Amino acid sequence: MNADVDQFAAPLGSEPEAEPPASTPERAALGVAVIGAGDMGSRHAQHWQASGARVVALVDPDLERATAAAARLGAQAYGDPSAVLADPDVNVISVCTPTYLHAGITVAALEAGKHVLCEKPASLTLRDAQAMHDAAERSGKELRIGFMRRFDPAYRPLMDYTTRAGRPLLAQATITAGVRPKRLMHDALVNGGPIIDMCCHVFNLWDVMFGGEPVAVSARGYTFSDDKPEVAGIAQRALDSALITLEYGGGSVGQIQVSWGLPAGIEPVERHTYVGPAGLVTVDWNKHLTLRDASGVTRWRSRGVDPWRAEIEQFTREITEGAPREVAGIAAGTAALRVSLAVLEAIATQRVVVPAEIADLEVNNR
Ligand SMILES: NC(=O)c1ccc[n+]([C@@H]2O[C@H](COP(=O)([O-])OP(=O)(O)OC[C@H]3O[C@@H](n4cnc5c(N)ncnc54)[C@H](O)[C@@H]3O)[C@@H](O)[C@H]2O)c1
Repeated sequence: MNADVDQFAAPLGSEPEAEPPASTPERAALGVAVIGAGDMGSRHAQHWQASGARVVALVDPDLERATAAAARLGAQAYGDPSAVLADPDVNVISVCTPTYLHAGITVAALEAGKHVLCEKPASLTLRDAQAMHDAAERSGKELRIGFMRRFDPAYRPLMDYTTRAGRPLLAQATITAGVRPKRLMHDALVNGGPIIDMCCHVFNLWDVMFGGEPVAVSARGYTFSDDKPEVAGIAQRALDSALITLEYGGGSVGQIQVSWGLPAGIEPVERHTYVGPAGLVTVDWNKHLTLRDASGVTRWRSRGVDPWRAEIEQFTREITEGAPREVAGIAAGTAALRVSLAVLEAIATQRVVVPAEIADLEVNNR
């Protein structure tokens, strides 16, 4: 029998998203400052406001950018975070700066008594991730890392379908794009390149899917962008391409083929395949999922949604209502970074690396 079932996510995408819950006094009392008013910062600010919180300030050394983003929300603009850190009306800080700045701003915000939502990846070094963890422990404030894919409508169907494919799973992810338009995404010392910046999403996903970090990592790394003018002159250009093999307890194995080194303008692609004893799952992340098993073919299709919106809504619930934690914490951010560093170590040494044995490393990323 060959069932062919189409399942659709709840109304999403260009259609209006579900109405946010009516703002409660607790939500309206929540003052938020967003540090970094670029793509992520503007998005966070908009979603905080939609959750019923008050966006009090946007901070960016590019004051023109901060001012433009703040004006849309009736907020103040600042060139540095000192005023918002001292402001008792600010309860939450969203950290949306380049990655190398995450730890310093997060630690200062926690020490100033603010809750923090920090964009992924947590940091570029385990030392920084540890400092973020320790500051959260000392302050008693909430710290979350923005692995927003947990809130993508494709996330639950993916977890469900891969469970139905059985264990062990043979997982494969292909992630390709032209050289990124933001040069900082290729800078080993700023955002870390795709092995840190992009693959952290997959490492985090697979940590959850396989119940823990990989027990062994091997990899080969490349810079396909050597002759590309868009990234010329970056002093520490990160590896932009790699083939990575990750072995998990229980026998599952994952392989990632990643490149941000293709000619500029090539459309980004992310496809995953999961093969298990009971079936095969293919994912055009995050648009289509297909499970093929003995009962036939089951398809799921997303109409698109902004997962940051759902992530911020959930964090709002966690802070104001004590809702159970669903937004990733610093432990998940540290774990994903440890795998990234293990991959970089495996590339540098051409050896199999055990992530649990990775202490802090100077990022050897080029
Ligand atoms: N969750 C995701 O999938 C996802 C997607 C994109 C980016 N990110 C992460 O979000 C972060 C920001 O990325 P983006 O795409 O918004 O970058 P962006 O370049 O668009 O914005 C970063 C902003 O930070 C500002 N900035 C620089 N130094 C600052 C400082 N000291 N204080 C305050 N602001 C400062 C810059 O002027 C810029 O406006 C990065 O860590 C990135 O990895 C996550």
